[in-house]
Amino acid sequence: MTDRERHRPELDVDFVRAHFPALADGWAFFENAGGSYVPRSVIERITTYMTETQVQPGASYAPSAAAAERMTQGRLAIAQLINADADEVVVGPSTTANVYALSHAIRPWFEPGDEVVVTDLDHEANNGAWRRLAEIGAVVKEWRVDPATAELDPAALEPLLSPRTRLVCVTHCSNITGTFNDIAAIARVVHAAGGLLFVDGVAFSPHRAVDVRALDVDFYGFSPYKVYGPHLGVLYGKREHLIAAQGQNHYFFRADEIPDKLAPGYPNHELTAGLAGIADYFDQLHARHFSHAPNTFHERACDVYRLFADHEERLADRFAAFLASDSRFRLIGRTGGAADARAPIFSFTVRGMKSAALPPRLEAAKVAIRNGDFYAIRLMGALGLDPGDGVVRASMVHYNSAEDVDRLIEGLEKSLG
Ligand SMILES: Cc1ncc(COP(=O)(O)O)c(C=O)c1O
Repeated sequence: MTDRERHRPELDVDFVRAHFPALADGWAFFENAGGSYVPRSVIERITTYMTETQVQPGASYAPSAAAAERMTQGRLAIAQLINADADEVVVGPSTTANVYALSHAIRPWFEPGDEVVVTDLDHEANNGAWRRLAEIGAVVKEWRVDPATAELDPAALEPLLSPRTRLVCVTHCSNITGTFNDIAAIARVVHAAGGLLFVDGVAFSPHRAVDVRALDVDFYGFSPYKVYGPHLGVLYGKREHLIAAQGQNHYFFRADEIPDKLAPGYPNHELTAGLAGIADYFDQLHARHFSHAPNTFHERACDVYRLFADHEERLADRFAAFLASDSRFRLIGRTGGAADARAPIFSFTVRGMKSAALPPRLEAAKVAIRNGDFYAIRLMGALGLDPGDGVVRASMVHYNSAEDVDRLIEGLEKSLG
């Protein structure tokens, strides 16, 4: 442990919460894995763009040049967040749309009989488009969760790999169980077999720092609207892969015109500019908690994410202990809050009760939770859960307070009687 880590301050949750206008509405919000609230800095970036520069960007006149510059800042911020270069980052409408485009962009890399590995743990965004590679003769293999743990056994991956493996697609964090997969280790195994790795970081990136270089992933997708930003999706790819991939934009985009050749129709302008507001927010948090600021935004973000991890672990420990104390709850996945193993995303069922019956009962106390399959329908099937009714999910992020968790627990206690 370094000195910096030993003397890490505690997250100032009041300071954090003051940045989010939506938190003033009095709800204890636990739908964060669905989409997070945004800090004022993001709203301001979007408002400024739309107020001053809502013109076609990239021309020489001043408002147009400023519009382009604001979008560039947004792209740069989101790239630096994950330690990528701006030209390695495709901004699109959502992760689902980005995966769909990428799956078409790399179709020429597959010969009939080549293999793609997907999981039954993943959100459908990291499933359907890849499975459809079967249309061009690819063989689809499934890395299955262990129903006893709701986790992927790392040892079960290697037997699925072969000299024909082109691509493995797996999530960094389950949007149902909150459990992390060891992506760096998976990357080593996949690369040793000669394959490429696509990682869905949508459920991971709101909680922990992502370093695409350290992970050595080939592709990484995440959605800023769950990372305190606007409703967009971001796709990272190693530069050589993006250049080699088939363009999905107009025919006249050159092969080396990355990332634009892979973003059909370009991303939403004002929201792209709004991405820079995420960096503003992280920097405000950094300045509040640390006396010394590292040079790069990525390093500052790493410092801030460590504060999130400590705070989230406290929340997760409290809620996990509550669920464990009542045998009517069936928690899906691992117990405990350990920050290195999980995000504070909790999904559970209640014995003798439909999942759909529970969320409305907490509404009077202004506690926002939800039930469903959360588009991880294959996981519901693998665990013997009713996909129509699904699980109840309570997902926390760093702006949730201990009082929020107390209200959630109180609401559940009252609802169950
Ligand atoms: C783990 C995970 N992957 C992918 C997605 C899809 O993201 P998007 O809504 O940006 O398509 C979600 C959305 O909930 C998700 O939770």
